[in-house]
Amino acid sequence: MSGIPAELGGLEPRYEVRRELARGGMGVVYEAFDRVRGAPCALKLLEGQVRRTQAARFRREAMLGARLAGHPGIVAPYDAGVLPSRRLYCVMELVEGGVPFDRYVRGLPRERAVRLVVEVARAVAYAHERGVVHRDLKPANVLVDAQGRARLTDFGVAKNLDEGDGLTATGAVVGTLDFMPPEQLLDSKRVDERSDVYGLGALLYVALTGRPPLPLQRLSLREALLEAPELTVPSPRQHDPSIDRGLATLCLRALARNPAERHEGALVFARDLEAWLDGDRAPRPLPSEHRRSGELSPFAPALVLAAGLAVLGALALFLWLR
Ligand SMILES: Nc1ncnc2c1ncn2[C@@H]1O[C@H](COP(=O)(O)OP(=O)(O)OP(=O)(O)O)[C@@H](O)[C@H]1O
Ligand SMILES: [Mg+2]
Repeated sequence: MSGIPAELGGLEPRYEVRRELARGGMGVVYEAFDRVRGAPCALKLLEGQVRRTQAARFRREAMLGARLAGHPGIVAPYDAGVLPSRRLYCVMELVEGGVPFDRYVRGLPRERAVRLVVEVARAVAYAHERGVVHRDLKPANVLVDAQGRARLTDFGVAKNLDEGDGLTATGAVVGTLDFMPPEQLLDSKRVDERSDVYGLGALLYVALTGRPPLPLQRLSLREALLEAPELTVPSPRQHDPSIDRGLATLCLRALARNPAERHEGALVFARDLEAWLDGDRAPRPLPSEHRRSGELSPFAPALVLAAGLAVLGALALFLWLR
């Protein structure tokens, strides 16, 4: 790249910007070289300007993910700053040849895709133990590196649970609607670890079906707000009946509308998936929205059989009595 892009004017000379990598939902990602570290890096320039008085707080919050550095499944930001144009940037390790999760799992054997979700769930559990909720788990934020390892990026909208005053704690919707838990859609302040469990369930859903659990992105925000609380995620088996019933119920549990009905945490979700991989295929309890419809209850076939036998028994008794 000859010279520095105009939008990066005033960037510290520490960084040599090499090329634009991609444009995402909240800004542009560049490949750069960090002269201090002597290593390539990814530099993300966020959309929008911050008020001068807010710059320090924004920088601090962009750096919340830095405490997660060192985990092999997490791409932690290690520097952040505000440009003279008052735009925020954040610097992290470059995932060379990183492929977004949804693209990588396409055509991958199911068990291998489930193992990738386990890797992400363990990285999320690590973040939760350190008081950081990701808040924007989605396929674009999981890059699979050249070694086939899942690397979780973008703790940028993460909110520090200890601080209780997040960059995005304004009630405004930040993130991608397709993967957003219903409670976050209604009020971003209600987000906690269980919202990330929903995000993990959504990644599993993509791994199993190639689609988001609820395609809300096609709706306007107003429509999504009105519809989301009423919508029930269709079972992954509706898209592909070959999906194991136990795995489908596990996925639906993580995606329960009511956070209290989801797995208690990312680690519990990871362990349930590992048990499934180890051959434990027992159906798990379903969240209430699915129990009500009864459509997917793992016990439904047994109930139908029992009811049939009862009717036959009653008929036999009736005939015998006559
Ligand atoms: N650390 C990184 N190393 C290599 N490529 C990256 C890195 N971070 C992001 N990218 C690339 O840049 C793309 C855009 O990322 P970005 O996070 O800006 O967008 P997004 O995830 O689609 O949306 P959002 O802004 O809501 O997170 C990613 O899909 C990925 O291809
Ligand atoms: Mg991203």
